[in-house]
Amino acid sequence: MNNEYKEEKDRVEQSGQQETAESRALNQYMPAQTASMDEWKRMQLIYSAALKEVNTKLEILNAEFQMTHRYNPIEHLSARIKSPDSIMKKLRHQGRAVTVENIVRYINDVAGIRIICSFTSDIYRISELIQKQSDVKVLKIKDYIANPKPNGYTSYHMIVSVPIFLSDMTIDTKVEIQIRTIAMDFWASLEHKMYYKFEGNAPENIRRELKECADLVGFLDRKMMAINEEIKKYSDEEEEDGVLMSESLRRLYGMVNEENEAKEAAVQDGKSAVVIDLEESELRAADAEQESQAARKKLFAMPKGRKATMK
Ligand code: GTP
Ligand code: MG
Repeated sequence: MNNEYKEEKDRVEQSGQQETAESRALNQYMPAQTASMDEWKRMQLIYSAALKEVNTKLEILNAEFQMTHRYNPIEHLSARIKSPDSIMKKLRHQGRAVTVENIVRYINDVAGIRIICSFTSDIYRISELIQKQSDVKVLKIKDYIANPKPNGYTSYHMIVSVPIFLSDMTIDTKVEIQIRTIAMDFWASLEHKMYYKFEGNAPENIRRELKECADLVGFLDRKMMAINEEIKKYSDEEEEDGVLMSESLRRLYGMVNEENEAKEAAVQDGKSAVVIDLEESELRAADAEQESQAARKKLFAMPKGRKATMK
């Protein structure tokens, strides 16, 4: 695992609303006229929420896969919020002012998730599953597996956006997802080390040898995947691909939705009252929940008039 993604786990967990070392650094660098402290904190909160959203989606997919196929397509997940230093360097490199607006518009990887898989086939499978989710918008895909970079780098990159629901608005927030095999990750971390060591001017022989390793990584991944396919043929418990839930359960979940939709439609038509078939205790619990939600809303409400649109 390389660079920025190392300490991320703690950072994601820490970066709620409280002041972190990171937000202190951001505030320190931020020219007063370009963004308020609140805007910085809000931005951090939103990006860390987006990471949590995508992380949860991936954990659910992985758990479902494990249950159905007794196999994890995701070996390892790591997530990180880009450090203030890197954000500023990147904007300066692009010749742009360090403002929240520019960060939101031009930096695609403020929130980043790296997914490590065993096999190349898992990478495409995960990508498809992410793309299928109705609240995820895919903004960009770079398939460096089909088209490796000249230095040999391979990986599958997606920029997606997910809606973050705040008390007074919904903000579509970008997340960079990098998906790689274990072997690709091994290569990338060594290449990254070389790049930084020589500040982009690595000796020709090292670059050549790394490129050779990249070819070996490609060979290894293809070979391992072929062996895995071979092993699967011998497996007694092989499940049909794509059959993740029995027909009867699928129908049952379908019915739950249909019933709700029918109730909603009835209310909208004004033809009949909704039938609320909750027990008294459930109703009381629901009331209590509503009250505490209202209290929470008050607590987190931002002053009106500070609108942010994140794309
Ligand atoms: P940035 O590289 O993030 O500025 O954006 P970009 O538009 O060039 O995006 P790209 O999808 O090409 O790369 C995004 C990220 O992938 C980088 O920030 C790195 O983490 C990783 N990456 C891309 N190319 C390489 C590479 O040649 N070597 C290594 N080790 N990592 C790379
Ligand atoms: Mg990056």
